[in-house]
Amino acid sequence: MLLEKLNWRYATKKMDPEKKVPQEKVDAILEAARLAPTSSGLQPYEIIVVSDPDKRARIRDVAWDQAQVTEGSHLLVFAAWDNYTEDRINMMFDLVNEERGVTNEGWEAYRQKLLGAYVPRDADVNYEHAARQAYIGLGIALTAAAFENVDATPMEGFDADKVDEILGLRARGLRSLTLVPLGYRETEGDWLVKLKKVRRPKEDFVSVV
Ligand SMILES: Cc1cc2nc3c(=O)[nH]c(=O)nc-3n(C[C@H](O)[C@H](O)[C@H](O)COP(=O)(O)O)c2cc1C
Repeated sequence: MLLEKLNWRYATKKMDPEKKVPQEKVDAILEAARLAPTSSGLQPYEIIVVSDPDKRARIRDVAWDQAQVTEGSHLLVFAAWDNYTEDRINMMFDLVNEERGVTNEGWEAYRQKLLGAYVPRDADVNYEHAARQAYIGLGIALTAAAFENVDATPMEGFDADKVDEILGLRARGLRSLTLVPLGYRETEGDWLVKLKKVRRPKEDFVSVV
């Protein structure tokens, strides 16, 4: 049951470097993120799977030396578009037309509406909007990892400018948002694993009006 899996998952602090997540599970987690909804379906972010050990070590250096970055078997980096451009918006609308093999006036009018609203807007506003979409993918990736019994730690504790530099993201029009190491918990060495999961009570969190 999903809620059991969500109770099982936690922000793993210590992963077993000897245990590798099977590729099909990594693929399922990435596919879940790819299927995440985004505003206007623009999917304004990418996921970078960092497999180069040297890059992983350099990222750990700028991520508060958090061990999961190198001890997890895989490292995902969620990176948002730095801006909405005409090309990027058109790319997605064209892809939809191509994949569906149809186009219609309403859809084309919506394309023009987004081009008119997003392209002239400040790059930072667009980046923040793109980042919000990426966080939906992050949530779904974390849920998918739990579903696959894979440990995953969402991480904002890193110097994003430095990670962008290590991965050459700015040249690709991307900015790093979160790191997600995937792996398997090393129960012995993890201070968090036995502690109760704490959440605000439902009455404070959900209100019915
Ligand atoms: C966006 C985001 C950034 C986070 N950054 C870090 C991080 O850098 N390092 C870390 O160990 N945990 C990080 N966490 C984990 C949270 O502290 C954790 O999810 C929260 O305390 C709830 O605990 P749980 O996930 O274990 O249930 C982050 C979580 C989120 C959602």
